[in-house]
Amino acid sequence: MRQVPTPLVVGVDEQSMARAVATLHAGNLVALPTETVYGLGADAANVTAVKRVFQAKGRPENHPLIVHIAGAELLPKWAVDIPLGAVRLAEAFWPGPLTLILQKHPSVPTAVTGGRDTIALRVPDHPVALTLLEAFGGGVAAPSANRFGQVSPTTAEAVVEELGDTVDLVVDGGPCAIGVESTIVEFAPSDEGDVVTILRPGAVSAEAVEEVLGFTVSRTATGPSRAPGMLASHYAPRTPVETCDADAFHAAFQHLRAQHLRVGVIAQQALVCPEATCLWHADGDINRYAHGLYGWLRDADRHNLDVVLAVLPQPDGVGVAIRDRLMRAANG
Ligand code: TXA
Ligand code: MG
Repeated sequence: MRQVPTPLVVGVDEQSMARAVATLHAGNLVALPTETVYGLGADAANVTAVKRVFQAKGRPENHPLIVHIAGAELLPKWAVDIPLGAVRLAEAFWPGPLTLILQKHPSVPTAVTGGRDTIALRVPDHPVALTLLEAFGGGVAAPSANRFGQVSPTTAEAVVEELGDTVDLVVDGGPCAIGVESTIVEFAPSDEGDVVTILRPGAVSAEAVEEVLGFTVSRTATGPSRAPGMLASHYAPRTPVETCDADAFHAAFQHLRAQHLRVGVIAQQALVCPEATCLWHADGDINRYAHGLYGWLRDADRHNLDVVLAVLPQPDGVGVAIRDRLMRAANG
């Protein structure tokens, strides 16, 4: 078997944290846990380090990164003309799975923002990420720690599987609690005031955002590559993925079996499906569905399946994000 060079994986003890901070200061790459997915982190102020992130991921350089900061009080260092609504969302949801797109501060290198004059900012709700950010002192640019277009990693093992030793250090903080990427909310200035758009659904629902803002927001991003991670095909395992709604499951499954395919099934409910080669389910719990999803898609690749049939959850809460990721995986 081919030996894949592995990066250094460390725990979350004080010495490991110090090592991670030193690695960032040296302009090298650190994969770190957040509550959503693992991030591939670099010093956001170091253009060379940021360029290495794009190389490691195989990501086009015009796809902007999210800058992670230790607290909302640091917003003015990274963004200008911050709307009151954005401050309200930060107060309501940070630390947490919400990313704000704001006008960038002139000091932020455009390498981080993919050449744009806007910046994505987030305070992650993970003790390890927060400890690292506080000790580091600066912003950490961190996209999900996967190869471009692939499934985001929710464990340290998955990071190693994705990136090998193109990452210098992996901090193993255990599995990510939520399991799907943050909700991205864009504030775009216009003549009639700010236009607020959900660019990517996540664990913070559009309804929760609207409740804090006091007005309705747009749920459909338009225009070319508004959020480049929102390509029609993304989050895709090697195994082809098909989706269906719960009430169409049996018909969809039988259709695949009639073609003598080895079918893996992913579902929220504990389905009874003895003919499935593999079955992953969340015991009815939507949060467990989000938590398990990316690990199941990775697992599917290990089982030599012909196809994964994923049952879409109801479009409520984090279910909107799960549907979004599954439909993009199905376009892979
Ligand atoms: O939960 C998350 O957000 C994870 C963890 C690591 O924090 N990060 C993550 O990063 O998902 P990434 O790079 O895989 O996705 C970032 C998304 C991309 O779709 C990117 O296009 C969008 O954020 N984005 C970043 N800056 C933007 C900007 N200035 N305007 C529009 N979209 C932006
Ligand atoms: Mg990503």
